[in-house]
Amino acid sequence: MVRIGEFAWAEMEPTEGRLDWEWLDGAISILADYNLKVVLGTPTATPPPWLTTAHPEVLPRDEHRRVSHAGSRRHYCPNSPVYQDYTRKIVTAMAKRYGDDARVIGWQTDNEFGCHDTGRCYCDVCLRRFRAWLQERYGSLDALNEAWGSVFWSALYSDWNEIPLPRAAPAEHNPSHVLDFHRFSSDSWRDYQQLQIDALRERISDRFITHNFTLFSSREVDGYDLAAPLDPVSWDNYHFHGTTPSILAAIHDVRWAMKSRNYWVMEQQVSNVTWAPYNPTFRPGEVGLKVWQGVPPGADGMVYFRWRAARLGAELYHSGLLNHGVRPTRGYAEASEIGQTLNKLVPMLEGSVPQAEVDLLQGYASRWSFDLQPHNRDSRDDEAFRRALMGPCEALWVRNVPVHILPACSDSDLSGYKAVIAPALNLLSSKGAEWLAAYVRHGGTLVVTARTGFKDERGQVPGPPPGHLPELMGVTAEEFDSLPPGRVNHVRFVEGATGSAPVSPWFEVLDPGAARSVAVYEDDYYAGRPAVTMRELGQGRAIYVGVLAGSDLYSLLLDWLLPLLDVGAALETRDGVEAMARVGPAGKVLFLLNHNRAPATVTLLEGTIDALTKEPMARQLELGPRDVRISTVGMDG
Ligand code: GLA
Repeated sequence: MVRIGEFAWAEMEPTEGRLDWEWLDGAISILADYNLKVVLGTPTATPPPWLTTAHPEVLPRDEHRRVSHAGSRRHYCPNSPVYQDYTRKIVTAMAKRYGDDARVIGWQTDNEFGCHDTGRCYCDVCLRRFRAWLQERYGSLDALNEAWGSVFWSALYSDWNEIPLPRAAPAEHNPSHVLDFHRFSSDSWRDYQQLQIDALRERISDRFITHNFTLFSSREVDGYDLAAPLDPVSWDNYHFHGTTPSILAAIHDVRWAMKSRNYWVMEQQVSNVTWAPYNPTFRPGEVGLKVWQGVPPGADGMVYFRWRAARLGAELYHSGLLNHGVRPTRGYAEASEIGQTLNKLVPMLEGSVPQAEVDLLQGYASRWSFDLQPHNRDSRDDEAFRRALMGPCEALWVRNVPVHILPACSDSDLSGYKAVIAPALNLLSSKGAEWLAAYVRHGGTLVVTARTGFKDERGQVPGPPPGHLPELMGVTAEEFDSLPPGRVNHVRFVEGATGSAPVSPWFEVLDPGAARSVAVYEDDYYAGRPAVTMRELGQGRAIYVGVLAGSDLYSLLLDWLLPLLDVGAALETRDGVEAMARVGPAGKVLFLLNHNRAPATVTLLEGTIDALTKEPMARQLELGPRDVRISTVGMDG
């Protein structure tokens, strides 16, 4: 299939009200001649010049109230009633034209909501809508002032019209105020997408509706919310300097968890991108690595981007399946081979899903709250939260232990997981704490880290950290120490796990009440004081990790915890070799990926069969650099 149309508004409607479908009809027909189906993107990420010229008020504004000008993409405010009107008209017109066209199998809303940091607009329409949103949320100014702690820095509001947007100001805004603005902004995109879905749904019968989430998009827009009315979810998988295989694996896991359903990759790069600081080409074998990495976590569709390298426009340096001379590239050759392999695998993969015994929790509001006040701002990376999440993720990934990354809300069913990890889940209401406590009471093992529950859902501190959790965790934090890059402490396990790991950058000095200290600090004035505690409640365990740490610490913890909980790995492999499986009615399909530039050896389980040749595989398997092998274990035929 081919996805088209997502930036083509100016061609669909060259001047206001004059619709031209001839070229699109032609394109769909040519594709149909080659037996290719179409996913149509609504074109709203690129408002045409006639629209922004006639209605400059649709353009978004930044924190300084400066206009984000036309001439690029994503230059619109989702709350603009004018833009919403035009959106409704173009989407409805497309749906009327192609809604029951059998060649169009699905629809994509817009393109990468939130991309280029466009998730928040500070225009006057947003200001009015924000005030209305607040009225709806709080009902009264007293309630709002109370929730925001407006008394601090003399910001008690006595009229709804006094409430500002958190525009550029001399110092920090009230974080509860900003947090609500972030929630409002995210809701605005959810509602804007819903407007498109409503226009489509009644005219496209059972065709699917998806949205292509951008790599880290959801920094500003709550991906779980956006995903709710979609099926399948899809995302754009771009790898660039600094993006590790474990980060991409974690994003795959988030995409599955958005609906607890398999999903698609709507854009899979085939070599270099155009927009990163450095843009290396894909080395031979890299397309396969990226494509096959997505199958075990639940990708059911892979669409390459781009078909042909562009000779015009902003992405001239972007790779394609065809090059600028319209000749097939290395990526094309790899993609063809992948396609042939996939055809053979389909019967084995039919109905299969990613299975996991460990869940990580993340919540967007928590993430915003965390990044709003990171309390440790490493200038190299303003995404403090991502580092906190990747500590445990990376350690699980290295161990080939599959995870799900469910939303941290009490609707998420945790009962099937042997362990649940809540890294830096900054906001936790008393209801949320009760939900986690119920999981532990029913025998679950909960690992929460520093900063989890530090604030309640309003963004206020309910008590000594960890907020509403001390009763469950049996511990409180006496002090928290935030050190600059390069300053590390060490944490040594004294019970359960063994060994010592360097940790940075955020340390809590713990006061274990009902909990036992299982690891202590080794350095500084709190040497010997608890860094990790554990409390057993019946069959359940509540483990508190008082540091924000990288994977070193989690490696020690998991080497103890995973066998204790009987959590299995897909296979044990050495560094940089990923082994993940998808399990379905036909059995288990195991994907072995060598992310290294050097060959690697893997010891397979007895009875492993090569999924393609159906031959038994030798116990010692040699994988070349960036090699992928696919096998089955315990599958008939
Ligand atoms: C995004 C967009 C595409 C294109 C690619 C380039 O994912 O959706 O339109 O800009 O990036 O890598």
